[in-house]
Amino acid sequence: ILHLSLLSCILLCESEALKEARQSVRKFPDGFQFGTATASYQVEGGWDADGKSPSIWDHLTHNDPCSTDDCKNGDIAADSYNLYKRDVEMMRELGLDFYRFSLSWTRILPTSFPDKINEAGVQYYNNLINEMLKYNIQPLVTLFHWDLPQKLQEMGGWTNPHIVDWFSDYARVAFELFGDRVKNWITINEPSAVCFHGYGSVTLAPMLNIQGVAEYMCAKNLLVAHAKAYHIYDKEFRPTQGGTIGLTHNAFWYEPETENDVELAEAVRQFEWGQYAHPIFSKTGDFPPVMKEKIAAKSAAQGFKRTRLPEFTSEEVEMVRGSSDFFGLNAYTTFLVYKNESLEGYYDVPSFYDDYEALTYQPTHWSGAASVWLKDVPWGFYNLLTKIREDYDNPPVFILENGYSTRGGLDDDDRITYIRSHLNALLDAIEEGSDIQKYTVWSLMDNFEWTRGYTERFGLYEVDYESPQRTRTPRKSAFVYKEIVRSRALDP
Ligand code: NOJ
Repeated sequence: ILHLSLLSCILLCESEALKEARQSVRKFPDGFQFGTATASYQVEGGWDADGKSPSIWDHLTHNDPCSTDDCKNGDIAADSYNLYKRDVEMMRELGLDFYRFSLSWTRILPTSFPDKINEAGVQYYNNLINEMLKYNIQPLVTLFHWDLPQKLQEMGGWTNPHIVDWFSDYARVAFELFGDRVKNWITINEPSAVCFHGYGSVTLAPMLNIQGVAEYMCAKNLLVAHAKAYHIYDKEFRPTQGGTIGLTHNAFWYEPETENDVELAEAVRQFEWGQYAHPIFSKTGDFPPVMKEKIAAKSAAQGFKRTRLPEFTSEEVEMVRGSSDFFGLNAYTTFLVYKNESLEGYYDVPSFYDDYEALTYQPTHWSGAASVWLKDVPWGFYNLLTKIREDYDNPPVFILENGYSTRGGLDDDDRITYIRSHLNALLDAIEEGSDIQKYTVWSLMDNFEWTRGYTERFGLYEVDYESPQRTRTPRKSAFVYKEIVRSRALDP
């Protein structure tokens, strides 16, 4: 009897446990899509192959080799220029719905302009796209992921208003070449990284330090260039090709440290990503009011005759407003916002922003990745998704990057915890009404992490840079992600 009741108890207990487990499995909505992402300079290599001309990253890393932590560059990187078939095989292993990659402008247009199309470069992308489509993996293509033609940089890059035409001419070429098969386009990746880090903070190529002036010229030109490309697609290509197009924002969540910091935290959000989101998604078609006010006041106090923030013409306002079919979002982490400067005991070096006089930082006890800025803070991701829903009338949201870095190795439990915690937060936001349609892990494989070189690894697949074949091996997280994609669910 004892034996029997023990047995039934075990069965009962097990079935109770199973029932509970089943109940807490969280399903993704029908039609929700999963992908991974990379970018041309970070994975392709072939920096001068078959007629490609140099981008600003080739220029920077060749002229100043130790501008990266390990004094390495993207000349070969993960060699995806040659190994694209293996890349597609990895996408199939994961069961992805889509793969986000970027086009190298100088591989397609080596003179930077559409006067000469480089057939070999076009062939590479045709091969990649066709190989993906063979297995029903949708291409999601970024036109610009930071590798600006060096020749255009020499003419001022994003600070030259002519870039509106340079960029939109290039966009038109891409739509003509690939739009019959590519139905999801991203114009520009992470505008604030391009402008603030490229022209203000000396962190990304072209590493200019003209903070508060060039960065805002860049912001305006970039938004207008994006909008022009959007309208070209909308008018000339969408009627026959029928796809979607938008921009992808990088947005950290900024949480006030105290009640007194609520207003300041909101100002930081508006400066950091509202700068690009507000003109597109608010009714004004213009920079956020708090940004305009603070820069105008600061400029006057500094003796400038007019504000350092360029103004949009009314025609530009019309162009920019509404120029995105979805809210593209690269979201990684959270910072606290504080006014007081005594931050002793905190791990991260606080950053101070002059135009809005705020400090942002992260507490020591937040668990973090190999990248010093990247902490696993899922509630911040949830707050960010809620804010986008509330401020911009619940636009369709594509999460186009979310991921975690390690120093390498196949056992990456922290990455698994991070992906799961962020997917749970995403499901919470969906339950509350957010229209989130896609999720993308950065990255399919390890790659060149800009000025960090190869010291930080973001891949679901590890890349062995010592091997001539750049062997790719799935990490533990690859198997976990594969199961999430297969089951369309998050188990408890
Ligand atoms: C944002 C960028 O788009 C990507 O290029 C970079 O590697 C990841 N974040 C990780 O830092």
